[in-house]
Amino acid sequence: MVIRDARFICSNTQVALCPEPTRPEYAFIGRSNVGKSSLINMLTGRSGLAKTSSLPGKTQLINHFLINDEWYLVDLPGYGYARVSKESRANWGKMIRAYLAKRENLTCVFVLIDSRLEPQAVDLEFLTMLGEMGVPFVLVFTKADKQSGSRTAHNVQTFLAKMRETWDELPRHFITSATGRTGRTGRDEVLAFIGEVNGQVQEAEGNA
Ligand code: GTP
Ligand code: MG
Repeated sequence: MVIRDARFICSNTQVALCPEPTRPEYAFIGRSNVGKSSLINMLTGRSGLAKTSSLPGKTQLINHFLINDEWYLVDLPGYGYARVSKESRANWGKMIRAYLAKRENLTCVFVLIDSRLEPQAVDLEFLTMLGEMGVPFVLVFTKADKQSGSRTAHNVQTFLAKMRETWDELPRHFITSATGRTGRTGRDEVLAFIGEVNGQVQEAEGNA
């Protein structure tokens, strides 16, 4: 897929205030600092589109970007940051759950996993919640430039093996790097996937 146009539309905390649900939507979520905003910039080829920071907790709102006037890309605030209050964690949970449950055009969630780490309980718990809610998702293993390819492959397999303990079917997964010497790793694969799914949505709408 060629990105001809990528523009910021709006930020808010409520599903009711999100743009009209008239286009397929792909949301990016994962632990704080895992690289959601960086991945969005890498995919769109616009380095300052989504705000990034080396400090966790940068993204606080539901941020909508319109791509090629065709589909929405959503940057969500991360979970699992230890230094947030109980109250703001509860607010995050409420906002995200409402978004996931009510956003009718939500087509697929990209769950970002840090490729350097052993399987993390917060990630596995979040996936369980998506499963219980029946939200379609794929996995993205980020920051692959931080270690060797064989280490990344090992960590990915360990994560999938852990999932296999509770899931019958495993989701599709991608390996990415948004910065560094191997920057743009996984870009073509993720964009091709979105293009493919957009085609399926269009076809389903044509048949409806
Ligand atoms: P929150 O909005 O705080 O939840 O974080 P986020 O998941 O949006 O992460 P963000 O994109 O802001 O990136 C966090 C830090 O990780 C920044 O310092 C990025 O430069 C760095 N980073 C993100 N992706 C990569 C990557 O692929 N490789 C490397 N080496 N660093 C990355
Ligand atoms: Mg962010």
